[in-house]
Amino acid sequence: MQKSRVGTSSLETSRIAYGCWRLAGTWNPPEIGPDATDIARRAIVAAIESGITLFDHADIYCQGAAETLFGKILKDIPGMRRQILIATKCGIRAKDTPSTGAPYRYDFRKEYIVRSCESSLQRLGVDVIDLYQLHRPDYLMDPMEVAEAFTLLREQGKVREFGVSNFRPSQVEALQASLGFSLQVNQVEISLFQLGPLENGVLDQCLTRGMSPMAWSPLGGGKLADGSTRVLPSQQGYSSERLLSLMDTMAREKSVSRAVIALSWLLKHPSEILPIVGSLQPERIQTVAASNPDLLSHEEWYQLLAAARAEPLP
Ligand SMILES: NC(=O)c1ccc[n+]([C@@H]2O[C@H](COP(=O)([O-])OP(=O)(O)OC[C@H]3O[C@@H](n4cnc5c(N)ncnc54)[C@H](OP(=O)(O)O)[C@@H]3O)[C@@H](O)[C@H]2O)c1
Repeated sequence: MQKSRVGTSSLETSRIAYGCWRLAGTWNPPEIGPDATDIARRAIVAAIESGITLFDHADIYCQGAAETLFGKILKDIPGMRRQILIATKCGIRAKDTPSTGAPYRYDFRKEYIVRSCESSLQRLGVDVIDLYQLHRPDYLMDPMEVAEAFTLLREQGKVREFGVSNFRPSQVEALQASLGFSLQVNQVEISLFQLGPLENGVLDQCLTRGMSPMAWSPLGGGKLADGSTRVLPSQQGYSSERLLSLMDTMAREKSVSRAVIALSWLLKHPSEILPIVGSLQPERIQTVAASNPDLLSHEEWYQLLAAARAEPLP
């Protein structure tokens, strides 16, 4: 497994990260099954054995249960904490919390960021979070207030590095201007079904600033591979016979899976995209972890781009 830096920081990560959104097997805590810990443990072990060292969480994944489950497994596997980097996120607040009537919303107020971080540390059972990200831009973000929260968490030794998720380049600039240290990642959806970051300035900004783009749903939630039981509403419409058939042809020629073609396409971008894979199946995790930036030629990369686009290249 190739390695990369997390942005310009001293943290070293595997090129592929593992995403813990689906780790509990459901997004609704009362539905967590009796075998959830075993399934999660097998997935995590497969990821580590495949060379994956970066694990991505959020406080809202299964309403905190994904972090708790991960913390339990982390405690059970000797030496695991030293081998891995833990990333998590805050800033999205569910409807009716903390009191009935509160809307679904984003909250980057200092007190909320600090409290969310402390809760994640507790659920994960660790002293420090390696990478702390703001999940979705808060329309009421005050960059100075976020900077105060981040600085405090860094000074207290609770967080090593910070990043953002789903930010436009202008929002990154607004926050960065108030921060005394660099934002290291912007985690956005990038895949052959979501080409936005190639054209909206996100990847250009990552190249300019030395930030790492992290790609969520790099397999389109499964639709670029063998399908998915659950995708986000925005991903429901993902489909392209033309693209999938070209991927199948390339996969056959290269004796790899379609998932490996999808991830290798991301890995080839010079911004060193870190795809976050979310499978719970150990064999699939092992297979996709073998993806390789050199698998596709420049020409093959463009063939896939052309098949993925609605319109021909200008
Ligand atoms: N920042 C954000 O706003 C945001 C939003 C969404 C996600 N994320 C992050 O991104 C991570 C990944 O998202 P994702 O789970 O949607 O990613 P993904 O890797 O695109 O999709 C994973 C899904 O694909 C299925 N799949 C089907 N065939 C597969 C194959 N051959 N190989 C691997 N998986 C296959 C998996 O099912 P099986 O389990 O049955 O294999 C799983 O349900 C999340 O865990 C989270 O950390 C962040």
